[in-house]
Amino acid sequence: MKKHLRFLITAGPTREAIDPVRFISNRSSGKMGYTLAAAARRVSPRVTLVSGPTCLKPPRGVKFIGVVTATEMARAVFAQFPKTDVVIMAAAVADFRPKYAATRKLKKERGMPRIVLTPTVDILRELGRRKKQQLLIGFAAETDSVEANAVKKLRAKRLDMIVANDVSRRGIGFGSDTNQVTLHFSDAPPEKTARLPKSAIARLVIRRCLERIKTP
Ligand code: CTP
Repeated sequence: MKKHLRFLITAGPTREAIDPVRFISNRSSGKMGYTLAAAARRVSPRVTLVSGPTCLKPPRGVKFIGVVTATEMARAVFAQFPKTDVVIMAAAVADFRPKYAATRKLKKERGMPRIVLTPTVDILRELGRRKKQQLLIGFAAETDSVEANAVKKLRAKRLDMIVANDVSRRGIGFGSDTNQVTLHFSDAPPEKTARLPKSAIARLVIRRCLERIKTP
């Protein structure tokens, strides 16, 4: 195995501007991604965390790149990707953004704005196309057909592992300190966890990554 694996981990939501005071975002707190970065740091000194806006403090010893939009996150991730061994996309990247962000605040006296949306780049799908030696791990936050949707994403994005969680259940997933997930692999049967602290899930994900690093 290589001496120091290079981890690239994304976390948090992205924000897509409507006007200078409003944006579209999502419920991601960043906890899972930051906990993963801390767990990765325990096994390697070479960890980069690319994060959207959160209230969290980056773990000690991790290279931190703060971003706001999906486009900024894509740019940061693509720049790091060639010098990375393991990518874990825990960020909840916005799938669409307002096509035009108003430069001045929209006033309600002018009537309800019509916000035209346009898709953002699917970062992980693009990494799947570009991947060489890298191990790719995705997250699937679902409310319906959780496992089937996760497996579909694993294949469509050419991932090595996907962490599926049901965000319709209380006390797990978004904003919570615990989670219950199923890990789906490209090369092994799925593994369902109990409800665990996010730190325990993070350690398990990192362990499963290490097992999959191809020895030269
Ligand atoms: N992802 C990404 N870029 C996007 C959207 C998602 O890299 N523009 C990544 C996420 O970080 C996650 C995985 O893709 O690791 C799955 O994200 P998810 O939002 O669950 O799935 P989507 O493919 O966006 O599909 P949908 O939102 O329709 O379920």
